Amino acid sequence: MKLPNIKILNEKNKLLHKISNEVKFPLKEEDKKLINDMLLYLKMSQIEKYSEKYNLRPGMGLAFPQIGKLMRIFVICNEEEDGSFTNYTIINPKIKSESEELIYVGEGEGCLSVDRDVDGIVPRHARITLEYQDVNGNKQTIRAREDLAVAFQHEIDHLNGILFVDKIDKKNPYKNQELMREI
Ligand code: NI
Repeated sequence: MKLPNIKILNEKNKLLHKISNEVKFPLKEEDKKLINDMLLYLKMSQIEKYSEKYNLRPGMGLAFPQIGKLMRIFVICNEEEDGSFTNYTIINPKIKSESEELIYVGEGEGCLSVDRDVDGIVPRHARITLEYQDVNGNKQTIRAREDLAVAFQHEIDHLNGILFVDKIDKKNPYKNQELMREI
């Protein structure tokens, strides 16, 4: 596998703090290629052989603003328990419902645009239902729970110019921890 040439912006870049635009269809070929490149990059970053060879931090999600394009698109490459990978390409997502139950990632969330250790918890809904469009512009619905639900919420935040570090209370990074379930 050849590593796609993807340049990921750092949290200091102001594009990461802007709201991305709704996407119109049909997609341009260059954007379809970017989607495929981002998915391959994420997959390779999660395979030790490649992450070592190319010195990659493992990541499961990337949003278009992270590569400098303010479009409401994100991709997720999720490693399943059997070691296979499932790809998701989500365009113009709308949250249709979310659980009352909140969860947080115990070891902390990570982001390919945030290259530092961050203490604290990020409250997320344990389950969400999204409406979105696929690469062909067709309307789809997807339900996610646990870590996949966290990933979806993390990436939707990117489309709204929000980083996970923005959601951590600076004065009290573990605020309301007792009200949430750790995953
Ligand atoms: Ni991120």
